Amino acid sequence: MPFPEPADHNATYLSVKAGNAGGAAALDFDASDWQPVTLPHDWASAQPFDATANVSQGYRARGIGWYRRLIRLDPALSGQKIELRFDGIASHATIWVNGSEVAHSWSGYTGVTVDLTPFARYGDDLNWIAVRADASVREGWWYEGAGIYRHAWLITRPALHIAGDGVHGHPVRATDGAWQVPVSVTLGNVADAPAQAEVRARVEDARGRVLCQGSASATVSALDQATATMTLTPGAAPALWSPDDPVLHDLVVELVRDGAVIDQRRLAIGFREVVFDPARGLLLNGVATKIKGVCLHQDHAGVGVAVPDAIMLWRLQRLKQLGCNAIRMTHGACAREVMDWCDRLGFLVMAENRLFNPAPDYLAQLEWLVRRDRNHPCVFAWSVFNEEPMQGTHAGKEMVRRLHAAVRRLDPARPVTAAMSGGFFNPENVGQAVDLMGFNYYQGDYDRYHALHPDQPMLSSEDTSAYGTRGAFASDPQAHVITALDKEAAGWGATHRQSWQAIAARPFVAGGFVWTGLDYHGEPTPYAWPSAGSFFGIMDLCGFAKTAFGIRQAQWLDSEPMVWIDPHWTWPGREGQDIEVLALTNAPALELRLNGKVVGAVARADRIQGHTFHIPYAPGRLEALALDSGRVVARMVHETTGPARALRLTPARRALGSDAADAMAVAIDAIDAQGRHVPVAQDSVTLAIRGGAIIGLGNGDPNSHESEKGNQRRLFNGLAQAIVQGEAGLAPMVLEARAPGLAPARLVLPRVAREGLPAVAPEPPRQRLARWLRSPPCPPGPIRHWRPPPATTIRGTASAAATRRRATGPGGSIAPR
Ligand code: GAL
Repeated sequence: MPFPEPADHNATYLSVKAGNAGGAAALDFDASDWQPVTLPHDWASAQPFDATANVSQGYRARGIGWYRRLIRLDPALSGQKIELRFDGIASHATIWVNGSEVAHSWSGYTGVTVDLTPFARYGDDLNWIAVRADASVREGWWYEGAGIYRHAWLITRPALHIAGDGVHGHPVRATDGAWQVPVSVTLGNVADAPAQAEVRARVEDARGRVLCQGSASATVSALDQATATMTLTPGAAPALWSPDDPVLHDLVVELVRDGAVIDQRRLAIGFREVVFDPARGLLLNGVATKIKGVCLHQDHAGVGVAVPDAIMLWRLQRLKQLGCNAIRMTHGACAREVMDWCDRLGFLVMAENRLFNPAPDYLAQLEWLVRRDRNHPCVFAWSVFNEEPMQGTHAGKEMVRRLHAAVRRLDPARPVTAAMSGGFFNPENVGQAVDLMGFNYYQGDYDRYHALHPDQPMLSSEDTSAYGTRGAFASDPQAHVITALDKEAAGWGATHRQSWQAIAARPFVAGGFVWTGLDYHGEPTPYAWPSAGSFFGIMDLCGFAKTAFGIRQAQWLDSEPMVWIDPHWTWPGREGQDIEVLALTNAPALELRLNGKVVGAVARADRIQGHTFHIPYAPGRLEALALDSGRVVARMVHETTGPARALRLTPARRALGSDAADAMAVAIDAIDAQGRHVPVAQDSVTLAIRGGAIIGLGNGDPNSHESEKGNQRRLFNGLAQAIVQGEAGLAPMVLEARAPGLAPARLVLPRVAREGLPAVAPEPPRQRLARWLRSPPCPPGPIRHWRPPPATTIRGTASAAATRRRATGPGGSIAPR
């Protein structure tokens, strides 16, 4: 979509004027043959795998894409503040409103808000929004997707209003133990006169009881901002937030003018005290709490980075089942919704900046992140970078000092950290400029660093990087398959068991973040083409558990007893041969039985390392029992299955919301004659859907080149996944699966009434007379390629410039003869 070169001086003169953008940003550009899309949207996920595309980005072409849409603004909105907010566009973006260039976004992880107010048109005079998303740039070494991949919002506020992300209210505990909620509210005013405003704030508990309240006033000049501040003091001790018991309160802020509430904000806050002790690690509300965290990239099978809200939530719920209590948002800001759910589900979050650079454009990205997320109780630290080559230099330290100061200005409450991967023993290094030392790998250096800096708290910002292919129990380097039995790791990493051992043994290491919770597209280390996805996840790209899931559960989960055993027990042809079995439990003891006979027992189970057995294969039933005082407290069974006979569809939830945005992951597997999951099935499945759409497909195979769109997917080691989205309405969604030689499966998903997200209805383009053209006296026929007439043909003009404007200005300034 090139911008056309102006034909002459006159056209050049006009091409740089407000409202006159050219090419696909032009008001009258004909986009009628463009493809309609629904947001969120990631066009890279629909591209074929291409050996010439970037390996780290998952061998998908990205490039540059354009979006256009029309918005009708009700004339009643005139006088209000109107904003257009994009929560994430990959990767760089330019935005035009009504032919004027209004914003640039230099990061795919940072949102961008456009003040539409001065450009807005009302009623039938529609507003053209054009977005150029440049995904040819890279900000990372992982799959970043392409396009408007997070929500886009049209926001209206009264002329005098609370600014976007304008409320800061994070409870803090004073040294005397009493809680306070310092509240600051940024107000804006787009009216043409100053306004006097009163701001009221209160904290409510989950039952709506008011814990404390206060008020403040401010005068806001026209087209300016002002801040109202106050400190709220709860009378009684509030219930505290923690990952185990994520109690939230509401901070309600009201803007009052002439006695009436004209704007208000309600946001979730939490009372929790985070203290990093150099010797004891994280003290959360005074309790030593080990950070059992995972690093997470944001994409999912089938949908790339355009992950529906419901799938983001489901991914977090999977992590909760793991016993994980913390997430590091690598390596940039996550979607807003993810932060909300981390508050609600109970995760500690290490929020991370993308590009390491204190220059104003980039500092603004960090400031945006802190301003957006500083009220979330889940956020416990700000990470200003990940593994930067300048980390062990004077310049690196100076850069971090500036980022640190910027964070401090916006959030005095949380520590600043950086994920360092070396340089920390250099005479000058970034470790000297952060509050909390972040170690990526280098686990052998924990003790030395702590001995040198006994007063600096530290955590493992990243560790592990162990490899595994879900459902594979022997490595095959030729086929790019890696055993899931926790045997192989990157040279800089360690197995799940080694890395947690190093962290668990040291109280001064506050905890760690495993690389990674789920697999992601791209970075297929240790392989390259044809591998296109990562091998690092505790779960695969679909969220199906690898053996690491059991390992981490045994290490982390305290709320209920569990036991895990791998591999499956379907090994025809291997009768009598030893099979290596890994069993893990968080219970005190463990027993293994094969066909009812005890074949292994451990009186004192090792939660971190688990236990390996070599069991001669005999078909039947392999059982792992977790024991506490001789009582069976958990059990996991693998049975030798017969051949696959039928397909099965298992939805993540029982019903789908009635709005068109709700989505669900549906697991596809094959079962034998007795209805048992067949772990070795690799059948190719064809799906059909009614009342909805399949928006993505996956199977967790990092080497697969099947399309992630469409209706066909092979089971990989027994499993595949479809992401489905319903049509708006209450008609059930019906999904059917077929495979040659297998009985088909049918899933009927009932719908439940759900309001869904508010949406602005698409406005069809109207044929509008954009300008008048003057015809020469004797036209040879229809004029197809009109060029502006020379200025001299217009008579009675005052100046040449005015002539040019009148000759071709938008809106038709020349009357027809
Ligand atoms: C780390 C890096 C991650 C990822 C990982 C793979 O060094 O921070 O982004 O590349 O290695 O092991």
